[in-house]
Amino acid sequence: MYIENIKLEGFRNYDKEETEFHKNINIITGENAQGKTNLLESIYFTSFGKSFRAGRDREMIGFGKDYCRVSALYVKDDEKEIEKEKVDIALSKDGRKAAQIDGRNIERISELISDYYSVIFSPEDLKIVKDEPEKRRKFIDGELCQLSFSYFNALTNYKKILSQRNSYLKEDNIDDSLLSVWDESLSEEGSKIIVSRKAFIERLSKISEEIHSNITDGKEKPEIEYDSNIPFSENKDEVKEIFLERLKDSREKDIYNGNTASGPHKDDIEIKIKGKSTRKFASQGQQRTVALSLKLAEIELIKEEKGDYPILLLDDVFSELDEGRQRYLVDYLEMMQVFITAAEIPEKILKTFPESKKIVVKEGKIINY
Ligand SMILES: Nc1ncnc2c1ncn2[C@@H]1O[C@H](COP(=O)(O)OP(=O)(O)O)[C@@H](O)[C@H]1O
Ligand SMILES: [Mg+2]
Repeated sequence: MYIENIKLEGFRNYDKEETEFHKNINIITGENAQGKTNLLESIYFTSFGKSFRAGRDREMIGFGKDYCRVSALYVKDDEKEIEKEKVDIALSKDGRKAAQIDGRNIERISELISDYYSVIFSPEDLKIVKDEPEKRRKFIDGELCQLSFSYFNALTNYKKILSQRNSYLKEDNIDDSLLSVWDESLSEEGSKIIVSRKAFIERLSKISEEIHSNITDGKEKPEIEYDSNIPFSENKDEVKEIFLERLKDSREKDIYNGNTASGPHKDDIEIKIKGKSTRKFASQGQQRTVALSLKLAEIELIKEEKGDYPILLLDDVFSELDEGRQRYLVDYLEMMQVFITAAEIPEKILKTFPESKKIVVKEGKIINY
């Protein structure tokens, strides 16, 4: 799958811009604050229906504009036939969001997620090992949402119920039977999340452990494990029972704290090298290898599930990797459409991509070469 062409209107610092892309390598350079990341964000927006960095959708609308619109022409090429689909997505200042596929309105924006997929890799992701658990959960959730619509639903419901339960816990007079209703639905959605995460992390770790081992010439083999605060089993109903039990046990504490102490919103993944926690002991180089391996494993899993590689967005990350890791990455890039941004890309690296498109971004204008 790749994007052949994109049109931006009122998106961030782009007024009206349009450009064609290469089906494999696209190199986007330009000085600081010219719009490189914004361009990647617009691509991501057409595949996820949201931003990878804006807290609110509205932030993507150009200053002083009433709306923004992005149209991308996706090409799905499965060797038998080539299919082109146009994705249009627009946001207005009053919070409305609408998307169309080939001119047909789609009911829910989240429908985009299962059909068009992209993976963003930015310097933030290089810190995934050291970051707080929330970032690792976000990574897992982002991926699972792309792969499974039922996961997306379970997660959306879980978050909603959790926030309702937490506000209720802060009230003065708490009705036990009402709290039990929240607990029932929280454990129902939560158990779905836990069981899916467990299966997913097992697959992800298998692939990323192998990649990590390859990058380090077999010297390091990490172990990646799901670290859930609810003991899990393969059986969703069992997990639900355990979770429900936990909620009961900690009810008094939860009321006291005005917060829910246990559940998948507290999960983490534990990454170890030679039995030692990478979070505490890994060198920066090791952490980067872990981050790169996880991202590449994510890409492999999408390929396994969807039969096609995602679009890969490398935001300012390529030049952050050392030569060995860059070389490893380059071998991967042949297989998918890639967007690489950097202030500058050394000649030596450019030579490894003889067939590519070079784009320079300047003050919200796209200049093609
Ligand atoms: N909603 C917006 N409307 C107009 N300009 C914006 C908006 N959001 C960010 N910008 C501008 O975009 C620029 C940053 O773009 P970005 O893509 O992050 O730069 P870089 O090329 O360094 O990746 C800044 O000049 C910022 O002011
Ligand atoms: Mg940037």
